[in-house]
Amino acid sequence: MTHPLLAPTACLQARLDRLRVALSAAGLDALVVTHPPNVFYLTNFASSSSMAVVTAGQVYLLADSRYTSALDLLIDAGGGPAITPLPVVGAYDEVLVRWLVAQGSGWRVGFEGSHVSVRRHARLASRLADLAPDADRPVGLVDTDGLVEAGRLVKDRHEIACLREAARRLSVVARQILTRAVRPGVSEHDLAAEIDHRLRHVGFARPAFETIVAGGPNSALPHATPTGRRIGHGDLVLLDFGGVYGGYCVDLTRTVVAGTPGEDARQLYRAVARAQDAAIAAVRPGVLADQVDSAARAALAASGLEEAFGHATGHGLGLEVHEAPRIGARSPGTPAPALLAPGMVVTIEPGAYVAGVGGVRLEDDILVTLDGAERLTDVPRDGRLQ
Ligand code: GLY
Ligand code: MN
Ligand code: MN
Repeated sequence: MTHPLLAPTACLQARLDRLRVALSAAGLDALVVTHPPNVFYLTNFASSSSMAVVTAGQVYLLADSRYTSALDLLIDAGGGPAITPLPVVGAYDEVLVRWLVAQGSGWRVGFEGSHVSVRRHARLASRLADLAPDADRPVGLVDTDGLVEAGRLVKDRHEIACLREAARRLSVVARQILTRAVRPGVSEHDLAAEIDHRLRHVGFARPAFETIVAGGPNSALPHATPTGRRIGHGDLVLLDFGGVYGGYCVDLTRTVVAGTPGEDARQLYRAVARAQDAAIAAVRPGVLADQVDSAARAALAASGLEEAFGHATGHGLGLEVHEAPRIGARSPGTPAPALLAPGMVVTIEPGAYVAGVGGVRLEDDILVTLDGAERLTDVPRDGRLQ
C-alpha cells in the first residue's frame, strides 16, 4: 500500500502506459524527463534535481546521495511500478550520457525541449558525440514538446482526490481569514503572514505562490506584492492565495470590503461576479477554453469594463499552479485553445482593475465533469458588495 498522498500503482502504471504509446508513435527509444513535476508525476519521487529515463520496459531514476535514502524508502514502500535507481556521483548529465551510450548505438532519445536550456542541450549533444563508440551511429537527441504534460491535462482519480481535498482545506483557510482577520488597521504584510501561517496549519506543505494581499488603491494592481500599508475603512481588499497539498496546487481569490463600500466598488464587484458566473456556466466538456474566456469578457463588456480586464480568465491546476489548459483569448504566440474534457481542473478568475477605485478579482477552482462543472472551492462572496 502506498502512502495516501502518493499516487497508487495503478495510476502510475496508466500514466507510463500512456507515455509509452506517445514514445512509440514518435519513434523514440527513451525519454529523458528533467522537469521535476513530470518526474514526480511518473514516479512519485520528488526532488529538484533528479531525472527519470523512461524506456519501453523500464523507468530509471538518476539521484545523488542527498536523495538515495528517500528513493530507497520509496522503492521499499513498494506499490509503484519498478524503478531502477542510477546513482549519481558527480555531474548528473555525465552519468546520463555515459549510461545512454552504454545502451546501444543509434538510440533516439527524446528530451523535454521546454525544460532544457540551449546550453545544456549543446553540452549533452557534444558529450554524446565524444563518447559514441560508433561514430556513424551516435545516440541522437530528439526535441519533444509536452509528452508528459499531455497526460497531466486530464487528472486521474488520485489527482482529483488530492485537488478536491486541497480545495476543501483552502476554503477553510479562506473562511477563517475573511471572517476574522480582514479588518481596518491590519497591514497587508501581516495579513499575508497570517494567511501563510494558516495554510501550513491546515496541512499545506507550502503556499503555491507568493500570497497577494492588496488593499485600497493597491487592489487595482492585479499581482500586487503585500506592503506595510494598513487597510482603511471602505477599502476593497483583494486576497489571492493558494497551497500545495500532496504535490497539487490550489488557488483562490476573494475581494472583500473593510467597512462600508462605496457605490463604485459595489458596481465593480457585481460586474466581476456576473463575469465569473457566466464563465463557470460556460464550462463543460467539448467547449473550447477560449469560449469560456469570451463568456467572462462579454459580461464585463456589458458593464463597460472590457478595458479593465487585462489578464486571462483562468488556467489549469495540478502539480504546477499555472498549467494547461489556458483559459484565455486566442492571440499570436499562445497555444491553440484546449477542448475542455472531464477531469480537467481549472481556475475561473475574472477581474476588473480601475485606478482610483480599486480592483476586484474572484477566483474559484473548477473540475470539468461529465456534463458540466463542479466548484471545488466553497467560499461565500462578500454580501456587503453584492
Ligand atoms: N496568483 C496567481 C493566479 O491566481 O493565477
Ligand atoms: Mn490566484
Ligand atoms: Mn490563478
